[in-house]
Amino acid sequence: MTFNEYEPIGKIENKHMLTLMDYSTEEIWEILKCAIDLKKKQYAKQPHEYLKGKTLAMIFAKSSTRTRISFEQGIRQLGGVPIFLSTNDIQLGRGEPIKDTVRVLERMNIDGIMIRTFKQSDLVELAKYGHIPIINGLTDDFHPCQVLADILTIYEKFGYLEGLKITFFGEGFNMANSLMLGCAKVGMHVCICAPEGHQPDPTIVAAARRGAFGDVTVTADVDKAIKGADVVYTDVFFSMGQAKDPEKEKALMPLQVNAAMMKKANPDAIFLHCLPAHRGEEVTEEVIEGPQSWVFPEAENRLHAQKAVMYLLMKD
Ligand code: CP
Ligand code: NVA
Repeated sequence: MTFNEYEPIGKIENKHMLTLMDYSTEEIWEILKCAIDLKKKQYAKQPHEYLKGKTLAMIFAKSSTRTRISFEQGIRQLGGVPIFLSTNDIQLGRGEPIKDTVRVLERMNIDGIMIRTFKQSDLVELAKYGHIPIINGLTDDFHPCQVLADILTIYEKFGYLEGLKITFFGEGFNMANSLMLGCAKVGMHVCICAPEGHQPDPTIVAAARRGAFGDVTVTADVDKAIKGADVVYTDVFFSMGQAKDPEKEKALMPLQVNAAMMKKANPDAIFLHCLPAHRGEEVTEEVIEGPQSWVFPEAENRLHAQKAVMYLLMKD
């Protein structure tokens, strides 16, 4: 079956969105179909307050523009209420255990938690001690909501997903990991191009291959990686929480997505970036501002994809 043939059933089995590793192809399709429906409703100004009376707690241990705004707007548009909690301001940041935090939030009638933090194990702990849905808003290991928005954007451009090639240039960190897991599950061929010493964790590569019906390749060969690419993706050299390192910058610079690189991709290829971008480092001004760049539709799709995630996880 293809994504276009899939008939949504209006529910998913998963109780949380911790990583796309836990998701089946059908569940990802379900979220995407729901996102498309909610986007249509929003554009048509049709009411869709399916989470009226629900409250989403949003815990941030790292900075954010897109994730914070899209979750806040998204829960409001669904009729619910957001509560923004910076770890600088709550007791979690002073060492209160995360397992206590989740049990307190539940007692206060919080219906779901979105969290952006460092360790994936913190999310596992929240899910273990709580009964409410936990949504990953980025950890060092994964950024699943970003990838759902990315796949939605790719679908909007091409009208199908199966057989498309996505190439990610950069370090094997949260974005590379989630792109491998999510895109391969919807039938895309995923190529991660990273220098030796910066390639993704082999256990995550193996997990992405297990759930895939597209190929997953990891290479340091830039020419091989860009050849035949329909989607060219990159991310910052230094992620939040990482120290600047001149050696790493030197290793990643040959992977910069510039006009010469885009010329080697398929002629109708698009450029994506989770943002924020550092022009002159992982991407040039010319590419990000150029006609192949879909970074702003991609950013908008965070809203629609996450509304679908919240709806499917938090509805009664
Ligand atoms: N792409 C993304 O997650 O952006 P923010 O860090 O601004 O949330
Ligand atoms: N890899 C980046 C993604 C930001 C959305 C980071 O973790 O900072």
